[in-house]
Amino acid sequence: MKQHAAAEDSGTLHISFLGLIPTAKKTTMENKIPVKLPFGKTIFQTSSGQSITSDTAFMVETMLHHFKTERLSVLELGSGNGIISIMLSYYRPTWKITGIDIQPHLVKLAKDNSRLAEVDPLFLCSDLKSFSAKKKIDLIISNPPYFPKIDGRISPVRERAISRHEIKCTMNDVLNAVKRNLNSEGKAYLLYPMSRINELWVSAKRVDLKFKEKIIFFETENKKKVLVVLKHA
Ligand SMILES: C[S@@+](CC[C@H](N)C(=O)[O-])C[C@H]1O[C@@H](n2cnc3c(N)ncnc32)[C@H](O)[C@@H]1O
Repeated sequence: MKQHAAAEDSGTLHISFLGLIPTAKKTTMENKIPVKLPFGKTIFQTSSGQSITSDTAFMVETMLHHFKTERLSVLELGSGNGIISIMLSYYRPTWKITGIDIQPHLVKLAKDNSRLAEVDPLFLCSDLKSFSAKKKIDLIISNPPYFPKIDGRISPVRERAISRHEIKCTMNDVLNAVKRNLNSEGKAYLLYPMSRINELWVSAKRVDLKFKEKIIFFETENKKKVLVVLKHA
């Protein structure tokens, strides 16, 4: 598995993927699996849902590397168990971070996890198809469900299915949420499989968003992902 590092002013900060893997295979708390964070705190993921993957570490590391500013409003679309927003809150305590998710039990878990990690991002149960922030956002991030409904076997486990497949939102819905909530100078970082890059480019153009940058990421030799940076056109 690939390991990533992000340079910090005070030296080098290593948020290794190894630091994010579950600490035990067996479930210990109502079917939840403990995950040890690089800064010593332990949070939980559900055993039936989307596991924490190298996508998570890659997203966090990239944000820390690209944004050193003290003041930033951040919106995470599809925050799941909260790990990305929680880690960003720890490393950037002055940022105003909000995570939204459509699955109520994950929002509760994200809130419980932020208490365990002693950070305070705001987690809301909301559908990204209709969510509108009171004030436009500087930075929007998302590791959205990225398999089209027709692509591959849909998990019989509802939580996992909603996390992985476009059941409750499509790429267009994610792009519309970005368009609606991003401030005029803001940036959005969306993670998708490389195989959807052309569709992403065309769909972004349709809602008047433009590509600013593409960051290619290899989860494994054969699994290529892309983190696309978008701005208003
Ligand atoms: C791939 S998971 C990412 C979870 C987490 N951000 C991470 O990286 O570990 C996608 C998340 O999007 C959420 N989701 C799916 N459709 C949604 C919608 N319409 N509105 C808000 N969240 C949604 C799912 O519940 C799931 O938690």
